[in-house]
Amino acid sequence: MRPHWLLALIAAIVLPGIFVAWMIWGGYEPNLPQSTFQADGPVGKLQKDLFWIIFWSATVIFVVIEGIFVYAIFRFPRRPNQPIPPQTHGHQTLEIGWTIAPAIVLAVVAVPTVSALWQIYNVPEEKAGLAIEVRAHQWWWEFKYPNQGVVTANEVHMPVGTRVHFTLHSDDVIHSFWIPKLGGKLDVIPNHSNVIWLQGDEPGEYYGQCAEFCGEAHAFMRFRAVVDTQADFDKWVAAQKAPASAAATGAATTGEALFMGKGACTACHTVAGTNAKGVIGPNLTHVGSRTTIAAGIMPNDHENLVKWLSDPGGIKPGNKMATVIGKSIKLTPDEVGALATYVQGLK
Ligand code: CUA
Repeated sequence: MRPHWLLALIAAIVLPGIFVAWMIWGGYEPNLPQSTFQADGPVGKLQKDLFWIIFWSATVIFVVIEGIFVYAIFRFPRRPNQPIPPQTHGHQTLEIGWTIAPAIVLAVVAVPTVSALWQIYNVPEEKAGLAIEVRAHQWWWEFKYPNQGVVTANEVHMPVGTRVHFTLHSDDVIHSFWIPKLGGKLDVIPNHSNVIWLQGDEPGEYYGQCAEFCGEAHAFMRFRAVVDTQADFDKWVAAQKAPASAAATGAATTGEALFMGKGACTACHTVAGTNAKGVIGPNLTHVGSRTTIAAGIMPNDHENLVKWLSDPGGIKPGNKMATVIGKSIKLTPDEVGALATYVQGLK
């Protein structure tokens, strides 16, 4: 066998074969927080099943076409002084065959695709499930529960086994709402509300991510979806509806005064039950109860809060808080620490 044929054979059969074997034997299911192969809930699983139907259809086509191709290379090589083979025109059986075969392939792919589209866009009546209004901002997520009277940010709680009806709005540019393991993605468009339903069937924490480039900090526009048992969800709703916890310790009291005064935090943030009524940034009434800060990019602890408050622009370039804290408000490290203590106490 000549070396270039050997290379062609490797490229055509062996490499894809290794890839397919790796797919089949589990290499495709890495344990990653945004792996769509570890789907949960009806929408996520539907999308995953659809992927496999299309993947295997494409694999069969690939193997058949490459097989014929490689066979032809070896069966009919060009020989020295070879006359031109007889030229024929038209081959009825072949022509009918290669017209019907793609139609069958298209049907195999189209039927489940269209059926999945119907199921995903068959959005349940709002009252049949839980309604959540999502508002995307550069670069964070706001979640409103109109029937529960809850407003939160960057962490959406959903009761297990319940269809959740998301209405998607954008305040600025086009974003895309995506919880890889549960489903999506759907564009979040200014001046137009899209709707999607998702459901989590296993309690747990799921990563969410903006999936449409929306500016400087697009990659940092994340969130968490927490699928709770019904009891935990009810508890969470009750806690979210309660007024913000009052500052208890000395540092927290100092922090509260800074929050309401010199820090100018009230210009952008709301803390229910206080004078803080800003709506530019996330509602912070219960920010201490969230697992992450800065739209899902850092665990919510004192050290990270201090880092965030000291240099928001270094952590999330271009965000609106950076232009305020970094340029016009000068807080000492002690003041930043006190502010973090106060914010952390808002459970
Ligand atoms: Cu919002 Cu990308």
